[in-house]
Amino acid sequence: MIDFHCHILPGVDDGAQNIEESLALAQQCVKAGVDAVVATPHGHGSVLDTLLPKRQAAFRQLGEALQRENIPLKLYPGMEYFADGHSVDMAVAHPEILCGIPGTPYRPLLLEISIDMDLQFVKDLLFMAQLKGIPLVLAHPERYKNFRKSFPLLCELMDKGLVLQFNSEDFRKSFFHRAIPNMMLALMDHDPTRVVIGSDAHDAEERPAGLQIAQESISKTLGKAVWEQVSQQNPAELIGL
Ligand SMILES: [Fe+2]
Repeated sequence: MIDFHCHILPGVDDGAQNIEESLALAQQCVKAGVDAVVATPHGHGSVLDTLLPKRQAAFRQLGEALQRENIPLKLYPGMEYFADGHSVDMAVAHPEILCGIPGTPYRPLLLEISIDMDLQFVKDLLFMAQLKGIPLVLAHPERYKNFRKSFPLLCELMDKGLVLQFNSEDFRKSFFHRAIPNMMLALMDHDPTRVVIGSDAHDAEERPAGLQIAQESISKTLGKAVWEQVSQQNPAELIGL
């Protein structure tokens, strides 16, 4: 299974701060049955010049450490890119910000929007991205302020090709917290080919790796075939496997 959103690279953003913390997250992944991770540090246009070489060095460092420690986890490059009006132009100019195997066509842009952004803006970006042949994946839309009111619009965007990335942790249900997990499941039921799952892990203690909560909830509600689709088939296709 593939974790599509993880801040596992050492010392690049507010995720793992050093190689030891990265390896702790990697161990958690393996223990949870995750065998591949898209490493997605935060990024934005204004910091790309310094971020890209830093990310490349961290990616190499972690790859070597995984080999040295014999940890069976595959790593793919990516970025959680903060959306603005220039996102698509930046992706064309800097394809390194896309997720997946470098050089593969149709790699996606993982886009983070601010919690109070208008989703119509994503609709415009989706149109622009499609003109350039770039698939868009929207990072954790369930954290968006108007998520619960946006079911019809999110369905419409999925129908137009938008992929939604849900955080595993957000499938946790409690008596007072059912609406969001239920809506994520309903969106997935609407079109299971347009969803991927991530841990959005930052550190092994507070925001750990692993996709168990999503796995349990999705398998139980929508079935194992849907879980397989959103945790393996969809992300594999997007990253060019
Ligand atoms: Fe993130």
